[in-house]
Amino acid sequence: MSFAATLTRDAGLVQARLDAALSGLADEPVIHAMRYAVQGGKRLRGFMVLESARILGIAESASVSAAAAVEALHAYSLIHDDMPCMDNDDLRRGLPTVHKKWDEATAVLAGDALQTLAFELLTDPALGSADVRVALVAGLAKASGAEGMVLGQALDIAAETAAAPLTLEQITRLQAGKTGALIRFSAEAGAILAQQDPAPLRAYADALGLAFQIWDDVLDVEGDVAKTGKRLNKDADAGKATFVSLLGLDRAKARAADLIDMAEGALAPYGDRAANLIAAARFVISRES
Ligand code: IPE
Ligand code: IPE
Ligand code: MG
Ligand code: MG
Ligand code: MG
Repeated sequence: MSFAATLTRDAGLVQARLDAALSGLADEPVIHAMRYAVQGGKRLRGFMVLESARILGIAESASVSAAAAVEALHAYSLIHDDMPCMDNDDLRRGLPTVHKKWDEATAVLAGDALQTLAFELLTDPALGSADVRVALVAGLAKASGAEGMVLGQALDIAAETAAAPLTLEQITRLQAGKTGALIRFSAEAGAILAQQDPAPLRAYADALGLAFQIWDDVLDVEGDVAKTGKRLNKDADAGKATFVSLLGLDRAKARAADLIDMAEGALAPYGDRAANLIAAARFVISRES
């Protein structure tokens, strides 16, 4: 199946798993906000979990809870990222952000509960032995916490008011945390599930993750709001430190293209089986949303 068809199909599998996890809960605003926040999106991280598992011989039924976990964690990070204390955005995935549609307390709590839901999903016995599930929990915790996404988000916010512009090295560290860590975990999840060496998938994801964030920064400058579903020029307006702010658009795009070549090269050990992951890497730096 082509990459585009696989991405669409996987998005449906992940949505169904999230819908099941969020069914039968209290009829309260925080639950409605959780369901709202897990709608839409490209589902690239969920695809990476399912596809990395697939190429290592793991069936979808034995990986979909991990894909849903990553997307729940990601949705939490977006709710909080959009709040007034962080990026203060009104639009996400073409719809009002959670704190706009409800209120800030509901946004904090819906994000918190999506985070805990992510870890609950990783305890699903369908994912394998207790050892495998503990490894997944530990991997997602590391990727999303003080050494990963949260650290990157903190560096991103701190850079807005830094006295001097960040260096390339500092921006690379920031982006590796804020975006790279969860993308790395998504690709490594297949190797954890299959109990195989994660090194090729890790090298692929590290290059892809950086390119992904560079392209997010490019779209912030020259994207189409009708396609991205989020406000434009928010990085420059907030004084964010990005590859685009440091290198300019052309050099940032060239850097992203180099990274995608590296990502593809890292998959050589998998031969033809890696075709969809390679297509995903190319998609990252051609996408309009
Ligand atoms: C947006 O992520 C936030 C970043 C980490 C750059 P995505 O571009 O994957 O957002 P969705 O999930 O497709 O909406
Ligand atoms: C958000 O990065 C990263 C996380 C939520 C971890 P951005 O702030 O650049 O994402 P957008 O542009 O709002 O989607
Ligand atoms: Mg942000
Ligand atoms: Mg933001
Ligand atoms: Mg952005």
